[in-house]
Amino acid sequence: MLHAVIMAGGSGTRFWPRSTDAKPKQFLNIFGNKTMLQATVDRINSLIPADRVWVITNQKYVDLVQDQLPDVPEQNIVGEPVAKDTAPCVALAAALIHEQDSDGTMMVLPADHQVTEPDEFIDTLKSAEAKAQADDSLVTIGIKPDRPETGYGYIEFDKDKSEEYNGREIKKVNQFREKPDLVTARQFIHSGNFLWNSGMFIWKTSTILDQFNQHLPSVGKQAQEFSSALTSTDQQQAIHDFYQGCPSISIDYGIMEQSDTVYVIPGTFGWNDVGSWKAVYDLREKNEDGNVIQSDTTVLTESTDNLIHSNGDKIVALAGVEDLAVVQTDNAILVCNLNEAQDVKQIVNQLDEDE
Ligand code: GDD
Ligand code: MG
Repeated sequence: MLHAVIMAGGSGTRFWPRSTDAKPKQFLNIFGNKTMLQATVDRINSLIPADRVWVITNQKYVDLVQDQLPDVPEQNIVGEPVAKDTAPCVALAAALIHEQDSDGTMMVLPADHQVTEPDEFIDTLKSAEAKAQADDSLVTIGIKPDRPETGYGYIEFDKDKSEEYNGREIKKVNQFREKPDLVTARQFIHSGNFLWNSGMFIWKTSTILDQFNQHLPSVGKQAQEFSSALTSTDQQQAIHDFYQGCPSISIDYGIMEQSDTVYVIPGTFGWNDVGSWKAVYDLREKNEDGNVIQSDTTVLTESTDNLIHSNGDKIVALAGVEDLAVVQTDNAILVCNLNEAQDVKQIVNQLDEDE
């Protein structure tokens, strides 16, 4: 059966001050009436019912996830005692699902992306599912790149090797490169046979557990011990021990870069990983001056191409400025150049150091 594993343990620091340690961006409704986590579950509900949705998050967010996703069974919401990046999160989910459904297939989804053209999205996932179930491949969903972004993984596909599943082309991957430097990213874009990694993965639980044993045995061993511990210890203790022994590493570096059985389906839907305030600006409708205004109480003069996001309890006024993000919450005001919106992460680091 097909299961969804939603990774929702990130800290989303680039969305400060809306995103805070108590409520990171995946739990916010930056885009409308649903939170990004709720939108992630809704997007796949024609394919995967709520009782086969699993959410892996930090233990401090378990209650928040339950509140936001009342249809997901409580036992499917797993709290991590420490954040160890995405490889341990995927291995633990695979072990838990494998326990219940040894033929299971899992679709790993980040909790904080925006997808448009939902029918194309579902269709792409169906092809990925068919390929993952047909053999022991690791299936990724690629996105056509439009800039040499260094915050993404890049997937080089083999131009000459492709198969068809469910009417869609699936390509063999030659190389997976996580977050290259700018010079390398430019070369990749130039060469024309690279896609961005969307961060969504589809594979059988048995396949990925084998891959952990092969390429990341430090995590693979912990997953095996976790499965055997479940027969004697309670689950909470077993989860604790699992994380205790795992290194901190992402699935991209730990498995995807190492494996030679990776395939990619070029995604034909609209995708954005909504990584910063700049992405919100790019995605939202602009007024005639190019401003995006998410606030009821704003006064602007001679100001163009700005993003204003405020809780509405104060007047936000801008005069003669351009390309700014101005974000106001009860506790903080952020003013930053939209083209350097990635640097908001550093503000949060600095605040943490000062604490
Ligand atoms: N449970 C859990 N535990 N989830 C985590 C953890 C963790 O320790 N760390 C991150 N996550 C979640 C985040 O909340 C997010 O939904 C997802 O895992 C991906 O983590 P990010 O930290 O956002 O990764 P990234 O954006 O730097 O890179 C990944 O995504 C890109 C596309 O958005 C990679 O897969 C790249 O290759 C990819 O291009
Ligand atoms: Mg991300």
